[in-house]
Amino acid sequence: MEKTLSIIKPDGVSKNLIGEVIKTFESQGIRIAAAKMKLLSRKEAEGFYYVHKERPFFGELVEFMMSGPVVLMVLEGEDVIRRNREIMGATDPAEAAPGTIRAKWADSKQNNIVHGSDSPESAAFEIGYFFSGIEIF
Ligand code: CMP
Repeated sequence: MEKTLSIIKPDGVSKNLIGEVIKTFESQGIRIAAAKMKLLSRKEAEGFYYVHKERPFFGELVEFMMSGPVVLMVLEGEDVIRRNREIMGATDPAEAAPGTIRAKWADSKQNNIVHGSDSPESAAFEIGYFFSGIEIF
């Protein structure tokens, strides 16, 4: 069964959307295989987003991701990497399909409530970045 990393970002946590986001996943048959809340350090945020380090928005993205606690989750299900991205909607909430998490709750391309791995390779890296084997059920 496929796994992916999901993050409820600081804006999702501060808007009291933890329950709504988890309900969205669970109601679509996606299983929560691991979950924890964490305040990311600068090093942890920079390391997580290292693929974006040359992008103009990198500095602000790192600041945003450190601005409050996040909820880190491993999701499990069939085709869950693609399905999670469909459920989240496009990065830019203005382009996100109606009914998706970002269409409903995101404020901007940066403050977009959730993160989801975009490929099997990034899912493997991202899950291993935050979780050890004994934390995944
Ligand atoms: P995420 O799926 O976590 O992956 C990279 C993040 O960078 C993305 O969600 C957004 O939060 C942020 N991001 C992507 N594009 C932009 C942009 N043009 N301006 C600001 N932030 C962005």
